[in-house]
Amino acid sequence: MGKVAVAAAVVCTAAVCAAAVVVMRRQMKSSGRWAKAEAILRELEEKCGTPTAKLRQVADAMTVEMHAGLASEGGSKLKMLISYVDNLPTGDEKGLFYALDLGGTNFRVMRVQLGGKDGIMKQEFEEVSIPPHLMVGSSHELFDFIAAALAKFVDTEGEDFHLLPGRQRELGFTFSFPVRQLSLASGTLIKWTKGFLIEDAVGQDVVGELTKAMERLGLDMRVAALVNDTVGTLAGGRYNNPDVIAAVILGTGTNAAYVERAHAIPKWQGLLPKSGEMVINMEWGNFRSSHLPLTEYDQILDAESLNPGEQIFEKIISGMYLGEIVRRVLCRMAEEASFFGDTIPPKLKIPFILRTPDMSAMHHDTSPDLKVVGSKLKDILEVPNSSLKMRKIIVEICDIVATRGARLSAAGILGILKKLGRDTVKEGEKQRSVIALDGGLFEHYTKFRKCMESTLKELLGDVAEDIVVEHSNDGSGIGAALLAASHSQYLEIDNS
Ligand code: GLC
Repeated sequence: MGKVAVAAAVVCTAAVCAAAVVVMRRQMKSSGRWAKAEAILRELEEKCGTPTAKLRQVADAMTVEMHAGLASEGGSKLKMLISYVDNLPTGDEKGLFYALDLGGTNFRVMRVQLGGKDGIMKQEFEEVSIPPHLMVGSSHELFDFIAAALAKFVDTEGEDFHLLPGRQRELGFTFSFPVRQLSLASGTLIKWTKGFLIEDAVGQDVVGELTKAMERLGLDMRVAALVNDTVGTLAGGRYNNPDVIAAVILGTGTNAAYVERAHAIPKWQGLLPKSGEMVINMEWGNFRSSHLPLTEYDQILDAESLNPGEQIFEKIISGMYLGEIVRRVLCRMAEEASFFGDTIPPKLKIPFILRTPDMSAMHHDTSPDLKVVGSKLKDILEVPNSSLKMRKIIVEICDIVATRGARLSAAGILGILKKLGRDTVKEGEKQRSVIALDGGLFEHYTKFRKCMESTLKELLGDVAEDIVVEHSNDGSGIGAALLAASHSQYLEIDNS
Protein backbone atom coordinates (compact mmCIF):
# COMPACT_ATOMS: atom_id res chain seq x y z
CA MET A 1 0.00 0.00 0.00
CA GLY A 2 1.38 3.37 -0.94
CA LYS A 3 1.69 6.19 1.58
CA VAL A 4 -1.30 7.99 0.19
CA ALA A 5 -3.45 4.89 0.38
CA VAL A 6 -2.42 4.26 3.98
CA ALA A 7 -3.18 7.83 4.93
CA ALA A 8 -6.58 7.60 3.22
CA ALA A 9 -7.36 4.36 5.02
CA VAL A 10 -6.42 5.93 8.34
CA VAL A 11 -8.56 8.99 7.67
CA CYS A 12 -11.46 6.78 6.65
CA THR A 13 -11.20 4.58 9.72
CA ALA A 14 -10.99 7.65 11.91
CA ALA A 15 -14.09 9.08 10.24
CA VAL A 16 -15.99 5.82 10.66
CA CYS A 17 -14.94 5.67 14.30
CA ALA A 18 -15.95 9.27 14.89
CA ALA A 19 -19.33 8.64 13.28
CA ALA A 20 -19.79 5.55 15.40
CA VAL A 21 -18.95 7.54 18.52
CA VAL A 22 -21.52 10.18 17.56
CA VAL A 23 -24.16 7.50 16.99
CA MET A 24 -23.26 5.80 20.26
CA ARG A 25 -23.31 9.09 22.13
CA ARG A 26 -26.68 9.86 20.62
CA GLN A 27 -27.96 6.46 21.58
CA MET A 28 -26.62 6.83 25.09
CA LYS A 29 -28.07 10.29 25.35
CA SER A 30 -31.37 9.03 24.05
CA SER A 31 -31.42 6.01 26.35
CA GLY A 32 -30.42 8.37 29.17
CA ARG A 33 -33.38 10.55 28.22
CA TRP A 34 -35.78 7.63 28.26
CA ALA A 35 -34.39 6.40 31.54
CA LYS A 36 -34.92 9.85 33.07
CA ALA A 37 -38.42 10.13 31.60
CA GLU A 38 -39.21 6.66 32.90
CA ALA A 39 -37.95 7.66 36.36
CA ILE A 40 -40.18 10.76 36.39
CA LEU A 41 -43.11 8.59 35.33
CA ARG A 42 -42.53 6.00 38.05
CA GLU A 43 -42.20 8.71 40.67
CA LEU A 44 -45.51 10.19 39.52
CA GLU A 45 -47.15 6.78 39.69
CA GLU A 46 -45.89 6.21 43.20
CA LYS A 47 -46.93 9.65 44.49
CA CYS A 48 -50.40 9.39 42.92
CA GLY A 49 -50.99 5.92 44.32
CA THR A 50 -54.44 5.26 45.76
CA PRO A 51 -54.40 1.77 47.29
CA THR A 52 -57.68 0.69 48.86
CA ALA A 53 -56.40 1.29 52.38
CA LYS A 54 -55.59 4.91 51.53
CA LEU A 55 -59.02 5.43 49.98
CA ARG A 56 -60.62 4.15 53.17
CA GLN A 57 -58.60 6.69 55.15
CA VAL A 58 -59.78 9.43 52.78
CA ALA A 59 -63.40 8.29 53.15
CA ASP A 60 -63.09 8.26 56.95
CA ALA A 61 -61.55 11.72 56.93
CA MET A 62 -64.42 12.93 54.74
CA THR A 63 -66.98 11.58 57.24
CA VAL A 64 -65.14 13.22 60.15
CA GLU A 65 -65.04 16.57 58.33
CA MET A 66 -68.73 16.30 57.48
CA HIS A 67 -69.56 16.00 61.17
CA ALA A 68 -67.29 18.95 61.98
CA GLY A 69 -68.76 21.15 59.25
CA LEU A 70 -72.31 20.39 60.41
CA ALA A 71 -71.43 21.09 64.03
CA SER A 72 -70.43 24.72 63.65
CA GLU A 73 -69.87 27.46 61.09
CA GLY A 74 -66.21 27.30 60.06
CA GLY A 75 -65.76 24.03 61.94
CA SER A 76 -64.21 22.38 58.91
CA LYS A 77 -62.77 22.96 55.47
CA LEU A 78 -66.05 21.39 54.36
CA LYS A 79 -68.57 24.20 54.55
CA MET A 80 -71.59 21.87 54.68
CA LEU A 81 -73.90 24.67 53.54
CA ILE A 82 -77.57 24.59 54.43
CA SER A 83 -79.56 24.78 51.19
CA TYR A 84 -82.99 25.56 52.66
CA VAL A 85 -84.29 22.75 50.45
CA ASP A 86 -86.25 20.66 52.92
CA ASN A 87 -88.69 19.23 50.43
CA LEU A 88 -87.58 17.58 47.25
CA PRO A 89 -89.79 17.37 44.14
CA THR A 90 -92.75 15.04 44.41
CA GLY A 91 -93.84 14.84 40.79
CA ASP A 92 -96.88 17.09 41.33
CA GLU A 93 -95.15 20.27 40.09
CA LYS A 94 -97.11 22.13 37.45
CA GLY A 95 -96.77 25.12 35.16
CA LEU A 96 -94.19 27.01 33.12
CA PHE A 97 -90.85 27.65 34.80
CA TYR A 98 -87.50 28.98 33.72
CA ALA A 99 -84.04 28.00 34.88
CA LEU A 100 -80.67 29.63 34.60
CA ASP A 101 -77.63 27.45 35.16
CA LEU A 102 -74.37 29.30 35.80
CA GLY A 103 -71.23 27.62 37.02
CA GLY A 104 -68.68 26.94 34.31
CA THR A 105 -67.44 28.45 31.12
CA ASN A 106 -70.93 28.14 29.64
CA PHE A 107 -74.27 28.96 31.10
CA ARG A 108 -77.61 27.60 30.15
CA VAL A 109 -81.06 29.10 30.02
CA MET A 110 -84.05 26.81 29.88
CA ARG A 111 -87.82 26.67 30.16
CA VAL A 112 -89.90 23.72 31.07
CA GLN A 113 -93.62 23.05 31.03
CA LEU A 114 -94.40 20.81 33.96
CA GLY A 115 -97.59 18.77 33.70
CA GLY A 116 -98.04 17.48 37.26
CA LYS A 117 -98.45 13.69 37.20
CA ASP A 118 -97.96 13.78 33.42
CA GLY A 119 -94.37 14.81 33.97
CA ILE A 120 -92.37 17.15 31.76
CA MET A 121 -94.51 18.22 28.80
CA LYS A 122 -91.91 20.21 26.96
CA GLN A 123 -88.54 21.74 27.54
CA GLU A 124 -86.19 23.96 25.60
CA PHE A 125 -82.77 25.30 26.35
CA GLU A 126 -79.98 27.39 24.99
CA GLU A 127 -76.32 27.39 25.89
CA VAL A 128 -74.24 30.54 25.90
CA SER A 129 -70.50 30.71 26.48
CA ILE A 130 -69.18 33.35 28.82
CA PRO A 131 -66.49 35.58 27.31
CA PRO A 132 -63.37 35.01 29.47
CA HIS A 133 -63.02 38.71 30.34
CA LEU A 134 -66.40 38.60 32.08
CA MET A 135 -65.20 35.80 34.39
CA VAL A 136 -62.75 38.20 36.01
CA GLY A 137 -64.50 41.54 35.41
CA SER A 138 -67.23 43.27 37.40
CA SER A 139 -70.39 41.80 38.83
CA HIS A 140 -72.53 44.34 37.00
CA GLU A 141 -71.13 43.34 33.60
CA LEU A 142 -71.48 39.61 34.20
CA PHE A 143 -75.07 39.81 35.41
CA ASP A 144 -76.04 42.21 32.62
CA PHE A 145 -74.67 39.75 30.09
CA ILE A 146 -76.60 36.86 31.64
CA ALA A 147 -79.84 38.80 31.99
CA ALA A 148 -79.62 39.90 28.36
CA ALA A 149 -79.26 36.28 27.19
CA LEU A 150 -82.20 35.32 29.39
CA ALA A 151 -84.37 38.14 28.01
CA LYS A 152 -83.55 37.10 24.46
CA PHE A 153 -84.50 33.53 25.28
CA VAL A 154 -87.81 34.57 26.88
CA ASP A 155 -88.66 36.39 23.65
CA THR A 156 -88.57 33.10 21.76
CA GLU A 157 -91.16 31.41 24.02
CA GLY A 158 -93.57 29.56 21.73
CA GLU A 159 -97.18 28.52 22.07
CA ASP A 160 -96.42 25.15 23.61
CA PHE A 161 -95.60 26.98 26.81
CA HIS A 162 -98.40 28.38 28.88
CA LEU A 163 -98.17 31.09 31.47
CA LEU A 164 -101.49 31.78 33.15
CA PRO A 165 -102.74 35.31 32.38
CA GLY A 166 -101.53 38.02 34.75
CA ARG A 167 -98.74 35.88 36.17
CA GLN A 168 -95.10 36.72 36.48
CA ARG A 169 -92.56 34.27 35.05
CA GLU A 170 -90.57 32.44 37.72
CA LEU A 171 -87.03 31.17 37.63
CA GLY A 172 -84.86 28.63 39.39
CA PHE A 173 -81.31 29.97 39.52
CA THR A 174 -78.55 27.36 39.64
CA PHE A 175 -75.45 29.18 40.78
CA SER A 176 -72.63 26.69 41.21
CA PHE A 177 -70.34 28.42 43.66
CA PRO A 178 -70.27 28.42 47.46
CA VAL A 179 -73.19 30.50 48.68
CA ARG A 180 -74.37 31.18 52.21
CA GLN A 181 -78.12 30.85 51.79
CA LEU A 182 -80.32 33.33 53.63
CA SER A 183 -83.48 31.62 52.44
CA LEU A 184 -84.34 29.36 49.53
CA ALA A 185 -84.37 32.36 47.21
CA SER A 186 -81.47 34.45 48.46
CA GLY A 187 -77.87 33.99 49.43
CA THR A 188 -74.48 35.66 49.49
CA LEU A 189 -71.46 34.49 47.56
CA ILE A 190 -68.74 33.21 49.90
CA LYS A 191 -65.95 32.96 47.31
CA TRP A 192 -65.38 32.18 43.67
CA THR A 193 -63.98 28.88 42.40
CA LYS A 194 -63.18 27.37 38.97
CA GLY A 195 -61.31 30.33 37.51
CA PHE A 196 -63.93 33.00 38.22
CA LEU A 197 -62.76 36.02 40.19
CA ILE A 198 -65.15 38.95 40.33
CA GLU A 199 -64.16 40.66 43.52
CA ASP A 200 -67.13 42.99 43.87
CA ALA A 201 -69.57 40.07 43.86
CA VAL A 202 -68.13 38.37 46.95
CA GLY A 203 -70.43 38.94 49.92
CA GLN A 204 -73.26 40.12 47.66
CA ASP A 205 -76.71 38.55 47.38
CA VAL A 206 -76.48 36.92 43.98
CA VAL A 207 -80.25 36.86 43.53
CA GLY A 208 -80.32 40.60 44.22
CA GLU A 209 -77.62 41.13 41.59
CA LEU A 210 -79.48 39.08 38.99
CA THR A 211 -82.81 40.73 39.83
CA LYS A 212 -81.30 44.21 39.44
CA ALA A 213 -79.83 43.25 36.07
CA MET A 214 -83.20 41.89 34.92
CA GLU A 215 -84.89 45.11 36.06
CA ARG A 216 -82.37 47.22 34.15
CA LEU A 217 -83.46 45.34 31.04
CA GLY A 218 -87.16 45.51 31.84
CA LEU A 219 -87.41 41.72 32.18
CA ASP A 220 -90.23 40.87 34.56
CA MET A 221 -89.17 37.66 36.24
CA ARG A 222 -88.99 36.47 39.85
CA VAL A 223 -86.20 34.26 41.18
CA ALA A 224 -88.09 31.64 43.19
CA ALA A 225 -85.15 29.39 44.10
CA LEU A 226 -81.38 29.74 44.30
CA VAL A 227 -79.56 26.42 44.27
CA ASN A 228 -76.12 24.93 43.84
CA ASP A 229 -75.77 22.54 40.86
CA THR A 230 -75.40 19.58 43.23
CA VAL A 231 -78.67 20.54 44.94
CA GLY A 232 -80.37 21.01 41.56
CA THR A 233 -79.08 17.62 40.42
CA LEU A 234 -80.35 16.02 43.62
CA ALA A 235 -83.79 17.59 43.07
CA GLY A 236 -83.85 16.59 39.39
CA GLY A 237 -82.68 13.07 40.30
CA ARG A 238 -85.34 12.67 43.01
CA TYR A 239 -88.07 13.73 40.55
CA ASN A 240 -87.18 10.66 38.47
CA ASN A 241 -86.26 8.28 41.22
CA PRO A 242 -87.41 8.37 44.88
CA ASP A 243 -84.29 6.48 46.03
CA VAL A 244 -81.93 9.34 45.17
CA ILE A 245 -80.18 10.44 48.38
CA ALA A 246 -77.15 12.32 47.09
CA ALA A 247 -75.80 14.03 44.01
CA VAL A 248 -72.23 14.46 42.83
CA ILE A 249 -70.90 16.74 40.13
CA LEU A 250 -67.76 15.72 38.28
CA GLY A 251 -67.26 18.50 35.78
CA THR A 252 -65.20 21.69 35.58
CA GLY A 253 -65.41 21.57 39.37
CA THR A 254 -66.46 18.83 41.74
CA ASN A 255 -68.89 18.82 44.64
CA ALA A 256 -71.60 16.80 46.37
CA ALA A 257 -74.93 17.37 48.10
CA TYR A 258 -76.98 14.91 50.11
CA VAL A 259 -80.11 14.63 52.21
CA GLU A 260 -79.31 15.00 55.91
CA ARG A 261 -81.55 14.42 58.92
CA ALA A 262 -82.26 17.94 60.15
CA HIS A 263 -81.65 17.02 63.81
CA ALA A 264 -78.15 15.89 62.82
CA ILE A 265 -77.21 19.47 61.88
CA PRO A 266 -76.21 21.11 65.17
CA LYS A 267 -75.52 24.45 63.48
CA TRP A 268 -79.06 24.67 62.02
CA GLN A 269 -80.65 27.56 63.85
CA GLY A 270 -84.08 27.53 62.25
CA LEU A 271 -87.25 25.59 62.87
CA LEU A 272 -87.01 21.88 62.29
CA PRO A 273 -88.55 21.30 58.87
CA LYS A 274 -91.73 19.22 58.71
CA SER A 275 -90.02 16.67 56.53
CA GLY A 276 -87.26 16.35 59.14
CA GLU A 277 -84.77 16.61 56.29
CA MET A 278 -82.45 19.21 54.82
CA VAL A 279 -80.29 19.09 51.73
CA ILE A 280 -76.67 19.98 52.48
CA ASN A 281 -74.29 21.38 49.87
CA MET A 282 -71.00 19.98 51.08
CA GLU A 283 -68.63 22.01 48.87
CA TRP A 284 -66.41 18.95 48.95
CA GLY A 285 -64.05 20.52 46.43
CA ASN A 286 -62.49 22.32 49.39
CA PHE A 287 -61.83 19.07 51.28
CA ARG A 288 -58.24 18.38 52.18
CA SER A 289 -56.55 15.77 54.30
CA SER A 290 -53.06 14.52 55.00
CA HIS A 291 -54.19 11.26 53.39
CA LEU A 292 -54.61 12.84 49.95
CA PRO A 293 -51.84 11.75 47.58
CA LEU A 294 -50.43 15.11 46.52
CA THR A 295 -47.45 15.64 44.25
CA GLU A 296 -45.09 18.55 43.59
CA TYR A 297 -47.12 19.26 40.44
CA ASP A 298 -50.28 19.73 42.53
CA GLN A 299 -48.47 21.94 45.00
CA ILE A 300 -47.14 24.28 42.33
CA LEU A 301 -50.42 24.28 40.42
CA ASP A 302 -52.17 25.31 43.63
CA ALA A 303 -49.61 27.98 44.50
CA GLU A 304 -49.94 29.55 41.05
CA SER A 305 -53.75 29.33 40.93
CA LEU A 306 -56.28 32.12 41.46
CA ASN A 307 -57.24 30.56 44.81
CA PRO A 308 -54.09 29.17 46.47
CA GLY A 309 -54.64 26.87 49.41
CA GLU A 310 -58.26 26.32 48.48
CA GLN A 311 -60.25 23.65 46.62
CA ILE A 312 -57.45 21.08 46.97
CA PHE A 313 -59.72 18.04 46.42
CA GLU A 314 -61.15 19.79 43.34
CA LYS A 315 -57.67 20.54 42.02
CA ILE A 316 -56.75 16.85 41.87
CA ILE A 317 -60.09 15.54 40.63
CA SER A 318 -61.96 17.92 38.37
CA GLY A 319 -61.99 18.72 34.69
CA MET A 320 -60.59 22.19 35.09
CA TYR A 321 -57.29 20.80 36.37
CA LEU A 322 -56.57 17.26 35.11
CA GLY A 323 -55.17 18.36 31.72
CA GLU A 324 -53.14 21.04 33.46
CA ILE A 325 -51.53 18.48 35.78
CA VAL A 326 -50.55 16.40 32.74
CA ARG A 327 -49.04 19.51 31.13
CA ARG A 328 -46.97 20.15 34.23
CA VAL A 329 -45.60 16.59 34.23
CA LEU A 330 -44.70 16.94 30.54
CA CYS A 331 -42.96 20.23 31.27
CA ARG A 332 -40.74 18.55 33.81
CA MET A 333 -40.00 15.72 31.40
CA ALA A 334 -39.13 18.27 28.71
CA GLU A 335 -36.82 20.16 31.03
CA GLU A 336 -35.11 17.32 32.83
CA ALA A 337 -35.24 14.47 30.33
CA SER A 338 -35.27 16.41 27.03
CA PHE A 339 -38.45 14.46 26.37
CA PHE A 340 -39.28 16.50 23.28
CA GLY A 341 -35.68 16.79 22.11
CA ASP A 342 -33.14 19.50 22.78
CA THR A 343 -35.64 22.32 22.97
CA ILE A 344 -38.78 22.65 25.06
CA PRO A 345 -41.87 23.23 22.89
CA PRO A 346 -42.81 26.87 23.68
CA LYS A 347 -46.53 26.05 23.73
CA LEU A 348 -45.98 23.56 26.53
CA LYS A 349 -45.13 26.50 28.77
CA ILE A 350 -48.63 27.99 28.47
CA PRO A 351 -50.78 27.17 31.53
CA PHE A 352 -54.05 25.36 30.82
CA ILE A 353 -53.20 24.87 27.13
CA LEU A 354 -53.80 21.13 27.50
CA ARG A 355 -57.50 20.82 28.26
CA THR A 356 -59.04 17.79 29.93
CA PRO A 357 -61.12 16.87 26.82
CA ASP A 358 -57.83 16.64 24.86
CA MET A 359 -56.28 14.58 27.64
CA SER A 360 -59.31 12.30 27.53
CA ALA A 361 -59.02 11.92 23.74
CA MET A 362 -55.37 10.88 24.13
CA HIS A 363 -56.18 8.53 26.99
CA HIS A 364 -58.86 6.76 24.93
CA ASP A 365 -56.67 6.39 21.83
CA THR A 366 -56.85 2.74 20.79
CA SER A 367 -55.04 3.02 17.43
CA PRO A 368 -51.88 0.88 17.21
CA ASP A 369 -49.65 3.89 16.53
CA LEU A 370 -51.53 6.17 18.94
CA LYS A 371 -52.31 8.61 16.19
CA VAL A 372 -54.72 10.69 18.25
CA VAL A 373 -51.88 11.36 20.70
CA GLY A 374 -49.65 12.26 17.77
CA SER A 375 -52.14 14.71 16.32
CA LYS A 376 -52.89 16.33 19.68
CA LEU A 377 -49.17 16.84 20.22
CA LYS A 378 -48.94 18.42 16.81
CA ASP A 379 -52.06 20.59 17.05
CA ILE A 380 -51.76 21.75 20.65
CA LEU A 381 -48.07 21.69 21.48
CA GLU A 382 -46.75 22.11 17.94
CA VAL A 383 -44.59 19.00 18.27
CA PRO A 384 -44.51 17.83 14.64
CA ASN A 385 -42.97 14.40 15.14
CA SER A 386 -43.43 12.10 18.06
CA SER A 387 -42.28 8.53 18.47
CA LEU A 388 -44.54 5.72 19.60
CA LYS A 389 -42.47 5.39 22.76
CA MET A 390 -43.16 9.03 23.58
CA ARG A 391 -46.87 8.69 22.89
CA LYS A 392 -47.10 5.63 25.13
CA ILE A 393 -45.56 7.53 28.01
CA ILE A 394 -48.07 10.35 27.54
CA VAL A 395 -50.98 7.91 27.66
CA GLU A 396 -49.55 6.52 30.86
CA ILE A 397 -49.37 9.97 32.44
CA CYS A 398 -53.03 10.56 31.52
CA ASP A 399 -53.92 7.22 33.05
CA ILE A 400 -52.13 7.90 36.33
CA VAL A 401 -53.67 11.37 36.74
CA ALA A 402 -57.22 10.32 35.77
CA THR A 403 -57.12 7.17 37.89
CA ARG A 404 -56.13 9.11 40.99
CA GLY A 405 -59.02 11.56 40.47
CA ALA A 406 -61.58 8.85 39.75
CA ARG A 407 -60.58 6.72 42.74
CA LEU A 408 -60.61 9.70 45.09
CA SER A 409 -64.09 10.70 43.97
CA ALA A 410 -65.27 7.17 44.77
CA ALA A 411 -63.70 7.55 48.24
CA GLY A 412 -65.66 10.81 48.67
CA ILE A 413 -68.90 9.01 47.88
CA LEU A 414 -68.03 6.29 50.39
CA GLY A 415 -67.56 9.09 52.96
CA ILE A 416 -71.14 10.27 52.39
CA LEU A 417 -72.55 6.74 52.57
CA LYS A 418 -70.71 6.24 55.85
CA LYS A 419 -72.12 9.46 57.26
CA LEU A 420 -75.61 8.19 56.40
CA GLY A 421 -74.93 4.69 57.71
CA ARG A 422 -75.56 3.26 54.26
CA ASP A 423 -72.16 1.69 53.77
CA THR A 424 -72.99 -1.58 55.46
CA VAL A 425 -75.63 -4.25 54.97
CA LYS A 426 -78.23 -4.05 57.74
CA GLU A 427 -79.79 -7.20 59.05
CA GLY A 428 -83.27 -7.73 57.59
CA GLU A 429 -83.28 -4.31 55.96
CA LYS A 430 -82.86 -3.76 52.26
CA GLN A 431 -82.36 -0.15 51.32
CA ARG A 432 -81.39 1.07 47.93
CA SER A 433 -79.35 4.25 47.70
CA VAL A 434 -79.14 6.06 44.41
CA ILE A 435 -76.53 8.72 43.75
CA ALA A 436 -77.27 11.12 40.91
CA LEU A 437 -74.13 12.01 38.97
CA ASP A 438 -73.60 14.73 36.42
CA GLY A 439 -70.89 16.87 34.86
CA GLY A 440 -68.75 16.74 31.74
CA LEU A 441 -66.03 14.61 33.27
CA PHE A 442 -68.54 11.94 34.28
CA GLU A 443 -70.42 12.18 31.02
CA HIS A 444 -67.57 12.29 28.50
CA TYR A 445 -64.44 10.87 30.13
CA THR A 446 -65.40 7.19 29.93
CA LYS A 447 -62.25 5.78 31.53
CA PHE A 448 -62.67 8.19 34.45
CA ARG A 449 -66.30 7.19 34.94
CA LYS A 450 -65.62 3.46 34.69
CA CYS A 451 -62.74 3.70 37.14
CA MET A 452 -64.85 5.71 39.59
CA GLU A 453 -67.67 3.14 39.39
CA SER A 454 -65.43 0.10 39.75
CA THR A 455 -63.57 1.69 42.67
CA LEU A 456 -66.87 2.32 44.42
CA LYS A 457 -67.74 -1.37 44.00
CA GLU A 458 -64.30 -2.35 45.30
CA LEU A 459 -64.80 -0.17 48.39
CA LEU A 460 -68.36 -1.24 49.08
CA GLY A 461 -68.00 -5.01 48.82
CA ASP A 462 -71.32 -6.70 49.62
CA VAL A 463 -73.27 -3.43 49.82
CA ALA A 464 -72.34 -2.56 46.25
CA GLU A 465 -75.51 -4.13 44.88
CA ASP A 466 -77.68 -1.72 46.89
CA ILE A 467 -75.84 1.40 45.78
CA VAL A 468 -76.61 2.73 42.32
CA VAL A 469 -74.86 5.49 40.44
CA GLU A 470 -77.23 7.11 37.98
CA HIS A 471 -76.50 9.71 35.36
CA SER A 472 -78.84 12.63 35.89
CA ASN A 473 -78.56 14.34 32.55
CA ASP A 474 -78.71 18.11 33.02
CA GLY A 475 -80.64 17.48 36.19
CA SER A 476 -79.35 20.67 37.76
CA GLY A 477 -81.34 23.01 35.50
CA ILE A 478 -84.53 20.96 35.66
CA GLY A 479 -84.02 20.53 39.39
CA ALA A 480 -83.86 24.31 39.86
CA ALA A 481 -87.04 24.74 37.78
CA LEU A 482 -88.77 22.07 39.87
CA LEU A 483 -87.77 23.82 43.09
CA ALA A 484 -88.98 27.12 41.65
CA ALA A 485 -92.29 25.36 40.99
CA SER A 486 -92.60 23.99 44.50
CA HIS A 487 -91.82 27.45 45.89
CA SER A 488 -93.91 29.44 43.45
CA GLN A 489 -95.63 32.58 44.74
CA TYR A 490 -98.84 31.17 43.21
CA LEU A 491 -98.67 27.81 44.97
CA GLU A 492 -101.36 28.62 47.53
CA ILE A 493 -103.75 29.97 44.92
CA ASP A 494 -103.14 26.88 42.79
CA ASN A 495 -103.68 24.50 45.68
CA SER A 496 -106.79 26.17 47.04
C1 GLC B 1 -67.11 24.17 42.52
C2 GLC B 1 -68.12 25.05 43.23
C3 GLC B 1 -69.32 24.26 43.67
C4 GLC B 1 -69.90 23.48 42.50
C5 GLC B 1 -68.83 22.62 41.86
C6 GLC B 1 -69.34 21.86 40.65
O1 GLC B 1 -66.60 23.27 43.43
O2 GLC B 1 -67.52 25.69 44.33
O3 GLC B 1 -70.30 25.10 44.22
O4 GLC B 1 -70.96 22.69 42.94
O5 GLC B 1 -67.75 23.44 41.47
O6 GLC B 1 -69.81 22.70 39.66
